[in-house]
Amino acid sequence: MSTHPTTTTARRPIATLTGFKPTGELHLGNYAGAIRPLARLAADEQRDVYLFVADLHALNGHPDPAVLADRAQRLAAALLACGLDRPNVHLYRQSRVPAIARLAALLSNVTAKGVLNRAHAYKAAVAANAGAGRDPDHGVNMGLYGYPILMAADILALDADEVPVGADQAQHLEIAVDLAQQFARTHRGDVLREPRALITESVATLPGLDGRKMSKSYGNTIALMADPDAVKDAIRRIVTDSTPPDQPKDPDACTLVALLRVFGSDSTVREVETRYRAGTIGYGETKALLADVIEQHLDPLRDRYERLRTDPAVLHERLIEGERHAARRADRVLARAMTAIGL
Ligand code: ADP
Ligand code: TRP
Repeated sequence: MSTHPTTTTARRPIATLTGFKPTGELHLGNYAGAIRPLARLAADEQRDVYLFVADLHALNGHPDPAVLADRAQRLAAALLACGLDRPNVHLYRQSRVPAIARLAALLSNVTAKGVLNRAHAYKAAVAANAGAGRDPDHGVNMGLYGYPILMAADILALDADEVPVGADQAQHLEIAVDLAQQFARTHRGDVLREPRALITESVATLPGLDGRKMSKSYGNTIALMADPDAVKDAIRRIVTDSTPPDQPKDPDACTLVALLRVFGSDSTVREVETRYRAGTIGYGETKALLADVIEQHLDPLRDRYERLRTDPAVLHERLIEGERHAARRADRVLARAMTAIGL
């Protein structure tokens, strides 16, 4: 038997990283599909969560400076208010961690142009131009074209282990892994950590007011931090068919029930489903019930959000702290990459 003292190797925390673009008002779909699942991951203290406002990613659309600044602040406050205000969550603005953009510059040299040609967002822009009979690259700037490189740098600069994102981001994650491997082949293999995508597919797509996927591009959203009257008003506007209250209805074909399933308790959902099938509840009553359920859920979030909005110093301090922490980590990765390259 060995007489050496046993060395306990402390397990390193899992680095979980994700970003949100400050391009619009957060809505219930973003909350249910991205923010709430992330808050659940963050509740596990084995994780260090790197959470950022992807402000550099918003620039390809040339937002008005004042609008961009305001959106970034509101997004940061909303994220904290939704259960992410925890010691193991590091919140930062991407633009305040300079090593990210510097790593993107280095990664561009191991990025095959063909990879970017095949990226979904760029291909969609080209297809739209072809449809309109324009030059294929009309209106495409390098911010849009090189988006996958910057996103890879976001991830690789922070040594991320896992990246929770919606299915629409799967290709971007594949490109990040590809660039880490390409860097390893071109330079050295022990510099960039290969991330793993955590695709949050199990979360049902939340429908919007018109029954299509809730999305800012469809203008069918319920804003996450809207005041209670605005939320109620939006719920009243949800489109249903015209089945009368005393007729049986299919709960699986109704937007109201879909929303209830995401925000209501199991017993409330079961009761409503039973009454739908039996024809003992009308859409008006269901809407009132849904409004109550959503209000109960949002009220504490909105409260925390309003407090952060009225006391910007708290938010500012939180961001500065997150930025210092993220910058230290990213600087170390950048230093490794520079050494490997010979800079
Ligand atoms: P939008 O479709 O409004 O432009 P984004 O693409 O900015 O929303 O969404 C950011 C993330 O929020 C997505 O990657 C996805 O995970 C989540 N999300 C957006 N809309 C929904 C929805 N209707 N249901 C579930 N999740 C959604
Ligand atoms: N592209 C993501 C979106 O549109 C946002 C984002 C930017 C991101 N950088 C990231 C997500 C890094 C995860 C990891 O939603």
